[in-house]
Amino acid sequence: MSAPTTAATAVPPAAHLRGWDCIEFWVGNARTTAGFLMSAFGFRCTGYAGPETGRRDKASYVLEQGDIRLVVSGALEAGSPIADHVRTHGDGVHDLAWVVDDARATYEAAINRGARSVREPWIEHDDNGDLELAQVATYGETVHTFVDRHRYRGGLEPGYTNDNLPNPTVGPAVGLVAIDHVVGNVAEGQLDTWVQFYADVMGFSPLVHFDDDQIRTEYSALMSTVVWDGSKIVMPINEPAEGRKKSQIQEYIEHYDGAGVQHIALRTDDIVAAVQALRDRGVRFMTVPDTYYAEAKQRLAEFDLPWPELQRLNILGDKDHDGYLLQIFTETITDRPAVFFEIIERHGAKGFGEGNFKALFEAIERDQARRGNL
Ligand code: FE2
Repeated sequence: MSAPTTAATAVPPAAHLRGWDCIEFWVGNARTTAGFLMSAFGFRCTGYAGPETGRRDKASYVLEQGDIRLVVSGALEAGSPIADHVRTHGDGVHDLAWVVDDARATYEAAINRGARSVREPWIEHDDNGDLELAQVATYGETVHTFVDRHRYRGGLEPGYTNDNLPNPTVGPAVGLVAIDHVVGNVAEGQLDTWVQFYADVMGFSPLVHFDDDQIRTEYSALMSTVVWDGSKIVMPINEPAEGRKKSQIQEYIEHYDGAGVQHIALRTDDIVAAVQALRDRGVRFMTVPDTYYAEAKQRLAEFDLPWPELQRLNILGDKDHDGYLLQIFTETITDRPAVFFEIIERHGAKGFGEGNFKALFEAIERDQARRGNL
């Protein structure tokens, strides 16, 4: 006779996931980081929590654009876990939060399948109803919060106000519409462990794997596996590989002091307009050698693309069996060489710019060399 199974063990968490709820950054100064994301990236502040709203431990700004919701939080006291996180990692991503049907069932399923608990299910309550939350650990000190909004009509969560919010006057949104994928870096030898974690614990499937011979330049290499929930949540995971010089993933691991989120890809329907607007507002992007475009025009010859604009703005192109994509990467937005954004426009293609890895990594290595870390 087989052991009895509960509904929670039978249904993996992926079955309950409805998509991204928010991504929370823990930073040294939430006010200035929020200001930067508003003025440079066109986010709108839709909520604030801090001493004025009764929070004694942290100040948090909720930032939205399209379906993207970021939360930027800073510590109000030395003993705060946010202060510890910032001391260890610098500014970084703490929480990858997902909307779920049932936070408790999702949490219990994850725990039964081997997840480490960060916080057992709890309820936040205000006049807008009950918000149920639960947290499990993932790579490094990053967490996944399961958020059940069924019985809550308010904004992010109780304790936030939408009165008297700061908003910049430098211009409108720049046309960012959704979170496309979120990439994590893990230490050498840890890729399989974390791919297995997302498969066994969360019920995710591996979507594609890239070996270090596929992602290699003259100097540096990495391996990458993309896992996803089969729908909206796509999470590539990288590990450093042996090269002639230090892998960009190893540089991240050393400076961030462990595994963590490397980049967040934000989707747009008009990358030329979005990148022009972002550049006009002072966002700095990785540069691409002009020689890249001679090669790219041949590789993408079957598509009618605005090459002069793409080249002027340093936007990259790639294709797969289903179509093409255009993408560009910002410089790191953190002081340490750690976290950056990608802007991506998809026309059928479901890849991540594999054909651009070499061009991208050569660009990254030029920045690494400038910092003396290559
Ligand atoms: Fe990416």
